Amino acid sequence: MSDSDKPETPEEGSTRHHVYDGIEEFNKRLPNWWLFTLYGAIVFSIGYWFYYAQSGVPVEDGPRVEAEIARIQAIKMSSNVVIDDPHLWEMSRNAVFIAGGEETYQSLCAACHLPSLRGKSESPAAIGPDLTDGEWIHGAEPINVYHVVDAGVLEKGMPAWGPVLGTEKTAQVVAFILSHHQAP
Ligand code: HEC
Repeated sequence: MSDSDKPETPEEGSTRHHVYDGIEEFNKRLPNWWLFTLYGAIVFSIGYWFYYAQSGVPVEDGPRVEAEIARIQAIKMSSNVVIDDPHLWEMSRNAVFIAGGEETYQSLCAACHLPSLRGKSESPAAIGPDLTDGEWIHGAEPINVYHVVDAGVLEKGMPAWGPVLGTEKTAQVVAFILSHHQAP
């Protein structure tokens, strides 16, 4: 530190002994509010570091991030709904699609297939078959399930939902059913 940079006792109006590009600097103490903000930030950072890095309290951002990713993927998938096996499996792993499908299911399908999806397996009085067992009357591929929901099996009492729901909602409800099954 050169002589000219030595801090002086602060005096109102005195300047430091350096000049840069014609600019002089007043020699003033840092104001107390500024210093206390700095000390406060240091104390806070120690507490913060201890809480987040040392205390072992789990601080979870994972579920929030996953929900956000699912939301973005759902928007992408909705803007271009492709109906084939890989896409239907993909939808069946998306929380937003599953939630949309579950809503439709509980309001339109649960009457016959029961809220648990287990239909006749749960109660012989149910009209619709079990949608959670691995047995499919009309084929086990997602596209088969989609076609049954879309076109129905009118002679057996399964209505056609495609005209009522449209492609996206039909895909969502199929995704909800598939979410109870393992992708191959
Ligand atoms: C009025 C009663 C009824 C309602 C409501 C109903 N279903 Fe069905 N569903 C049936 C019946 C009966 C069958 C069996 C058809 C058969 O035997 O071929 C069936 C079959 C199915 C199948 C094929 C199962 C298999 O093993 O291949 C799927 C998938 C299905 N329903 C989904 C749905 C969805 C999704 C909804 C709501 C959007 C719905 N169902 C609403 C009566 C219903």
